Amino acid sequence: MDMPFPATVFDADHPGSWIMPQPFLRYTAQDHATWQHLASRQMRLLQGRIAPAFLDGIRALGLHHGGIPDFGALNRRLTQRTGWQVVAVPGLVPDRAFFRMLAQRQFPAGWWIRKPDQLDYIEEPDVFHDVFGHVPLLTQPAYADYLAAYGRAGLAADENGLRRLARLYWYTVEFGLAATGAGLRIVGAGIASSAGETVFALESASPDRIAFDLRRVLRTQYRIDDFQPAYFVLPSESAWPALDATLIAAPDVDVLAPGARAPGDVLLHQGDGAHHLR
Ligand SMILES: [Fe+2]
Repeated sequence: MDMPFPATVFDADHPGSWIMPQPFLRYTAQDHATWQHLASRQMRLLQGRIAPAFLDGIRALGLHHGGIPDFGALNRRLTQRTGWQVVAVPGLVPDRAFFRMLAQRQFPAGWWIRKPDQLDYIEEPDVFHDVFGHVPLLTQPAYADYLAAYGRAGLAADENGLRRLARLYWYTVEFGLAATGAGLRIVGAGIASSAGETVFALESASPDRIAFDLRRVLRTQYRIDDFQPAYFVLPSESAWPALDATLIAAPDVDVLAPGARAPGDVLLHQGDGAHHLR
């Protein structure tokens, strides 16, 4: 893919140098059709599976219709609600810049969209994952505050803390589930933007579903190449964890492999592990 800036202008530590205008006029009719296909499919699958607050966010921002959103129009609605904005970036952003953006309530989003022959597999997050998956909950104050606090925690962390924080992001922001009045629901962007994992995370007998515990999650490794063998369940869709600096900075000992169980786990569903035995 051709990038609009040469890589040398990027200052890894400075978020501003990563932000670029969303090249909205470069999207083709096919690009918008790809968004629409993915959004329509997810809207069908998410019924009865997504947290109500997430669905409210999709609707409030109009992400379910009209093709790839124009970030300017999107931000007029989002900023008014929680002070967050979506900013376009040309690719994965280095840790420091990423945390600084979050602390400043800027969510970095890849602006490009996957090709029609890669609808269900992408190597780097695209605009559908980043915006449809991540942005709806940014309309909700509890989540908006959590993600900004996560950015501040990242800026304060050393290498040990960063390793632990990455796991927390994975098991909440990307792959979190929550107990809601309507039942067990999806809150994580990695699930909500994936047709296969939307069904697997909630309905498969294979994965463990474990009551969220910060100490536990901070020491739990994850896998990036398959569905998760375990999901962690927040006590409600607005009960995002407090970022306890002492726990984050604690020594990274007793690290658990993905899918391993630990004494003290509250298993809401004890998975049979069948998916990962195959
Ligand atoms: Fe993501």
